[in-house]
Amino acid sequence: MNWRIKSLDAILATAQKKSLKRTLGPWQLTMLGIGGIIGTGIFVLTAEAAQKAGPGMMVSFVLAAFVCGVSALCYAELAAMVPVAGSAYTYTYAVLGELLAWIVGWALVLEYAVAASAVAVGWSGYVVGLLDHLLGIHIPAVLANGPYAGGIVNLPAIFISLLVTWLLVLGTKESASVNAVLVAIKVVALLFFIALAVPAIKDTNFHPFMPQGFASFGGAGVVGAASSIFFAFVGFDAVSTAAEETINPQRNVPIGLVGSLIICTIIYLLVGAGAIGSFGGQPVVDGAGTWLEPGSTALADRCGQLATAGTHPLVCSKEALAHVLRSTGHPVIGNLLGLAAGFALPSVVLMMMYAQTRIFFVMSRDGLLPEVLSKVHAKYQTPHVVTIVTGLFVAIGAAFFPVGRLADVSNSGTLCAFFFVALAVMILRKTNPDRARGFRTPGVWITAPLAAIGCVVLFVFLPPDAKWVFPIWGGMGLVVYYLYGYRKSHVGRGLDD
Ligand code: ALA
Repeated sequence: MNWRIKSLDAILATAQKKSLKRTLGPWQLTMLGIGGIIGTGIFVLTAEAAQKAGPGMMVSFVLAAFVCGVSALCYAELAAMVPVAGSAYTYTYAVLGELLAWIVGWALVLEYAVAASAVAVGWSGYVVGLLDHLLGIHIPAVLANGPYAGGIVNLPAIFISLLVTWLLVLGTKESASVNAVLVAIKVVALLFFIALAVPAIKDTNFHPFMPQGFASFGGAGVVGAASSIFFAFVGFDAVSTAAEETINPQRNVPIGLVGSLIICTIIYLLVGAGAIGSFGGQPVVDGAGTWLEPGSTALADRCGQLATAGTHPLVCSKEALAHVLRSTGHPVIGNLLGLAAGFALPSVVLMMMYAQTRIFFVMSRDGLLPEVLSKVHAKYQTPHVVTIVTGLFVAIGAAFFPVGRLADVSNSGTLCAFFFVALAVMILRKTNPDRARGFRTPGVWITAPLAAIGCVVLFVFLPPDAKWVFPIWGGMGLVVYYLYGYRKSHVGRGLDD
């Protein structure tokens, strides 16, 4: 075990020497936050949450939002105090040392890169459906699905991953403006959904409220649904990775983090209530009454049987929100909502990949990854090498894996990062009590432990395979660290500023 700690002053000094341009204000940051948050989670995975919890998914939304909320308050303190790119990785470096920082950085790859792949796959589902529905253009299933669904490769998902990579190479500012337009499109689409679905709510659709109970280790129930739908809230923390490119980060980063999370939570609760209340969202069971796991072949087969019999439950839909509108007498708006998702989901891929490139950028600046990755493009002023490498990995993930699995795996990495952020904020209060804090986590001795415990609970109720990916990925990370980062680390070699 080694405890090489990078001092906070050294972190700030390095950032000043090799820094990115500061161009982002509070409005752009909030837009980046919303851009990262609203995406595949609400548009696609709502069906998965309903399969796990039924109408009880409303409680799942609240649980997941609560864990994110207390985590956001911890993030905000650290992001305002250490306004450099790198987020949880950088904070951990300063507080718990290089080895744990490396593990957190490695976990953030699961969070951001795998999430980007997940959203690209969600986008592909909407766009393939829409092309078929609206224009009669049929993309063969083998070219629009990975092997998990009997296909070869998901070409639309590769296409969108590479398009976003190109936007990011062109520059943050341009990317943020494109992002703002797309954020507006998806927020308007969700507001239309709320306006049509909420007035049509029927009480009877909420009974039974928790058909699969509150919690079970198999993944069913309200807590299991919270562990999965947690994905719908992830993304706000990406704001903190833009701290180094933010004007007046002490004020603007906390506004961006907390503001975007509050706005999205309100929207989600209304959308969830509208979907369940107007259309119904009870889990699908087999002929013997046994619950079926989301993403399983058994559930797909059962949905196929129900479709043949003319029944199309919410939990079987790949375009959950569009499906609700179409089925409740609003086919045109349903299609428009699908179109909006098709236009807007790429903004989430953009946000996730943006964050990922900035994490890699800082890790390479610290010598833990090859230096060539932190090269900044002469004309565009962006870390283009790391962006292109990340884009290729995201495209490969999106090409071959299913959306729900990718989302759960991403959650496992995110929960790890959030856990260490909560720990770091408490340790820094003790070790650096006098350092200036532009934002202080309110009630930190309650808030931060709640965040840490919340992360552990949601991790425990993830599906078993998602929990397994995490230690395997972590083990690979340790090998890479001891073969490369341990010897090349700037802190280890005394090259620290
Ligand atoms: N929160 C983001 C989404 O739901 C990752 O797509």
